[in-house]
Amino acid sequence: MRAAVHDRYGPPEVLRVEEVDRPVPKSDELLVRVRAATVNRTDCGWRIPRPFFVRFFTGLRRPRQRILGSDFAGEVAEVGRAVTRFRVGDAVFGQTRGFGANAEYVVVRESGRVASKPDAVSFEEAASVCEGAFYALASLRKARVGEGQRVVVYGASGAIGTAGVQLAKHLGAHVTAVCNTENLDVVRSLGPDRVLDYTQEDFTALGERFDVVFDAVGKHSFRRSRRALTADGVYVTTDLGYLWHVPPLAIATRLARRRRAIMPTVGGVSDRDIDLLRELIEAGKYRPVVDRTYPLEHVAEATRYVETGQKTGNVVLTV
Ligand SMILES: NC(=O)c1ccc[n+]([C@@H]2O[C@H](COP(=O)([O-])OP(=O)(O)OC[C@H]3O[C@@H](n4cnc5c(N)ncnc54)[C@H](OP(=O)(O)O)[C@@H]3O)[C@@H](O)[C@H]2O)c1
Repeated sequence: MRAAVHDRYGPPEVLRVEEVDRPVPKSDELLVRVRAATVNRTDCGWRIPRPFFVRFFTGLRRPRQRILGSDFAGEVAEVGRAVTRFRVGDAVFGQTRGFGANAEYVVVRESGRVASKPDAVSFEEAASVCEGAFYALASLRKARVGEGQRVVVYGASGAIGTAGVQLAKHLGAHVTAVCNTENLDVVRSLGPDRVLDYTQEDFTALGERFDVVFDAVGKHSFRRSRRALTADGVYVTTDLGYLWHVPPLAIATRLARRRRAIMPTVGGVSDRDIDLLRELIEAGKYRPVVDRTYPLEHVAEATRYVETGQKTGNVVLTV
């Protein structure tokens, strides 16, 4: 099968498409013929692991994972003996545990992050659901976002931000979404109560207080957000770049019991939350945002675009 592979760390040019062996599903796995997969910020982080200690996970000298890509949508091509929920030919979408989706075929456990693709969305859209939505859901749950809470989603135009706006609305919050001028219409279409253009307005200068500031793009620090938080308000960020200062802040602010910072998180969600996302899509309450699509062969170009940090929602490879 064709796959986007890389054998050394480096810029997007280290990625190339070549023939590799097709994976073989174990008894509890599905083999999915991939129709669309994303290139996301996690893929970029694994291709250039920083800081250096990250290589203990990704491979010390060279990448342990030759094929990147975790979000996928496609059709079931083969099922293992013990699989009961899916049949050959079913349209599915999901996220692999360990990459491998930027390829013609990928395997995924039946009990993992995989669900039937809603008819209402294309393969490209279905491939754009999981990464953003799971990070957003984990953050919003950790911040205990609920009915009537006033929430700011900063960086509302990214993969996590576009998901965060819609999921915060689903949780019953009053949502103020913050993005730049070009993305105002897209973000408005996701249903927040208010959209602010960060080039024109500073949400911390409105004189309002928010229960949660969700920095979905890692560009608005706790220090800058603090004055916009209620006395027991919570700041949560997705950016592991803040790993060095958020944990001490989390401890200090927890002790102070006022205006807490909480750590970037991947917990608080289960694989079965993919069923919640499928139901929201089917009910017209969640719409994955696709920015650009590229053929698999143009994986390096797609990756260069993702690395500008300017994408709106998701970048998709069609396979
Ligand atoms: N916790 C994890 O393991 C994990 C996993 C994946 C991603 N992340 C991190 O989470 C963050 C978001 O990921 P993502 O995939 O959602 O990002 P993304 O899609 O690449 O976000 C890009 C969007 O953010 C907007 N943006 C950039 N700078 C901004 C600023 N200063 N203020 C407001 N908006 C800004 C961009 O629009 P404009 O610049 O045009 O405004 C663009 O629409 C990244 O920092 C990423 O590294 C963490």
